[in-house]
Amino acid sequence: MNRCETIDALRGHVKTVRAEGKKVGFIPTMGALHPGHASLITKAREMCEEVVVSIFVNPTQFNSREDFEAYPLTLNEDISVAQKSGAALVFTPSLDELYAGDFALETLDYGLLTSRYEGQSRLGHFDGVVAVVRKLFSAVDPDMAFFGEKDLQQLAIIRRLAREEFNGLEVIACPLVREDDGLAMSSRNVRLSGRYRQDALALFHWVNRVKKAAETKADISGLLQTISGEAELMKHIELEYIDVVNAETFEPLRSRFERYNAFVIVAARVGGVRLIDNCRLACS
Ligand code: PAJ
Repeated sequence: MNRCETIDALRGHVKTVRAEGKKVGFIPTMGALHPGHASLITKAREMCEEVVVSIFVNPTQFNSREDFEAYPLTLNEDISVAQKSGAALVFTPSLDELYAGDFALETLDYGLLTSRYEGQSRLGHFDGVVAVVRKLFSAVDPDMAFFGEKDLQQLAIIRRLAREEFNGLEVIACPLVREDDGLAMSSRNVRLSGRYRQDALALFHWVNRVKKAAETKADISGLLQTISGEAELMKHIELEYIDVVNAETFEPLRSRFERYNAFVIVAARVGGVRLIDNCRLACS
C-alpha cells in the first residue's frame, strides 16, 4: 500500500491508475479507524479496483478546542487497518497542505438539512465538514465516495454537495456497524469510562423502541415524549434530541414511514461524551 502526503503526489497516483482503466473509490476519515470504517473500505474494494482512504483530523468541524485535542490519534494502527481492509493508497495531508493557512468558512445553507438536529446542536460543524470534503473530493477526484449511515445527516449533506458540485461522483451509503452489545461504533467510544460505557447503551435501546413501535403502528409522538421524559430522570445522560425524520430531507415524520426513507435519530451526552445513533424504520 502507498502513502502520500501531498495533493500533487495523490493526483499523480490517481492519474496513473485511471490510465489503467481502474475505478477509484474514496473514503474520507479522521483516523482512529475501527470496524465501522473498515466496512466502508471493504465495500469500496468490492465496487472499485483502486481504493483511497484519507486520514485527516479536520479542525474546522470541531465545536471546541478540547474536543479537537481529545480526538484519538492512532496513525500507525490506522494505516494497518486501511491496508488489511483493501486500500491501495492512504492520503495523510498536513493542515497546511489542505488549508494553506486559510480557515475562513463559507456558511452552508441547505435548509433543514443544515439547520436542524446536528446543524442546530453543533453550529458551524457542517460548514467545516463540507469545506474539507470539498477539498478532498477535488484532490482525489474519485468515481465513488463511501460514507457511513452512522452520520446520517452528514451523508445527506454530502449527497447534496456531490449533486451540486461534483458531477458524476456517486455517493454510496454503508450501514451502521455496532459493537456486540449494540453500541454504535465511534472513535469517541474510547472516552466512555467506567459505568458510562453501559449507560451509553440507552441510545441503542431508544432507537430500537421507536423502531418496534413503528412496526406495530403505535403512537410515535407519544413514545418520543415518553423517552424524553425518561431521559430527564437519568443522571448521567443528557438527551439532545430524538426524532423520526426523512433521511433525505431531514423533515420530521410522524406517519406513513413506508412512503419515505424514515429513520429514528438520536443525540445525547453520556458522561460528557457526545454520541449519536439512528435506525431505519422498516415498515410494511
Ligand atoms: P469519521 O468520523 O472518521 O468517519 C469516517 C466515515 O466512517 C464516515 O462516513 C462515517 O459515517 C463512517 N463511520 C463512522 N463510524 C461508523 C460506524 N459505526 N458504522 C458505519 N460507518 C461509520 O465522518 C467523518 O470522519 C468526518 O466528518 C469526515 C467526513 C472525514 C470529514 O472530516
